[in-house]
Amino acid sequence: MWALADALTDMEPGAEGTLLYPSGVAANSAGMLALLAPGDHLLMVDSAYEPTRAFVGGLLKRYGVETSFYDPLVGAGIAELIRPETKLIFLESPGSLTFEVQDIPAITAVAREKGVLTMLDNTWATPLLFPALARGVDVAMMSLTKYVGGHSDAMMGSLTATKAVWPKLRSAAYQLGQAVSPDDCAAVLRGLRTLDVRLARHQANALAVAEWLAGRPEVGRVLHPALAGDAGHDIWRRDFKGASGLFGFTLKGADEAGRTRFIEALDHFGIGFSWGGYESLVVPSNPAGIRTACPWTDPDPLLRLSIGLEDPADLIADLARGFAAMAG
Ligand SMILES: Cc1ncc(COP(=O)(O)O)c(C=O)c1O
Repeated sequence: MWALADALTDMEPGAEGTLLYPSGVAANSAGMLALLAPGDHLLMVDSAYEPTRAFVGGLLKRYGVETSFYDPLVGAGIAELIRPETKLIFLESPGSLTFEVQDIPAITAVAREKGVLTMLDNTWATPLLFPALARGVDVAMMSLTKYVGGHSDAMMGSLTATKAVWPKLRSAAYQLGQAVSPDDCAAVLRGLRTLDVRLARHQANALAVAEWLAGRPEVGRVLHPALAGDAGHDIWRRDFKGASGLFGFTLKGADEAGRTRFIEALDHFGIGFSWGGYESLVVPSNPAGIRTACPWTDPDPLLRLSIGLEDPADLIADLARGFAAMAG
């Protein structure tokens, strides 16, 4: 456990320490519980992972913390949303399902000036592609279940924090008593050793697939920040060292039945809600029913792909089969 926690701390410049939790969801909840108290106000990005939203609207609300959701593209405009009782700004970039890229340096600069803490779900990028604390974040969270573990055989989460925040997290972890098993730590540590080479392959494969999709007549939009022309491309280029393998795309003018035919025709892609493993996965997603601060208005059905380590030609052939099935 210590070996894994120390390695994650070493990977994150500016970090004092890392705590491990039984899942990414557990790390998120434990971090927010540690940093917030009844009467506090939390600013939560509208594109957050859905169970993160469920926690702030459920247990955290019962605990007396009020949450406001904000537009992921708010940037320095976050200043206008900060109240005297705002204690934490939660970020996730790119956003879950829709992949908006947040201007994290702008938000963390405002937060520091106003004495508000920031916590980032950095699962998509990991510190290898986005060194969160160096960009001004106080607490970097990861679901290690995804890229760091990398083999879809262990669940774990982490919080890596600055010296100023570390004692609060450490004390809350001691009180909550969420422990991880040595076997899971060994599995995640094994994954960590190949993270760098796997991420490079995830990036290359995902870009090959995304570029192919962008040229298909059946596709409305490809939501991938590393594609030139993506709304988040400029900020992604400025702040990130690369991209991983998770992105979305819409099926132009298709209906629910068409999306289902597309998914069911795929051989290589399993259907799965988790991601970041060596095998490619697809999942249908419906952000319109989740958002509150900035509605998702695109009527086309959306899909999320987690591109694995396979030969991209096989993946593209598989997706071509999906389009053929969709056409009926
Ligand atoms: C962005 C993001 N954060 C956190 C989690 C939760 O991680 P875990 O599955 O380890 O609880 C997920 C899982 O899908 C995720 O996509």
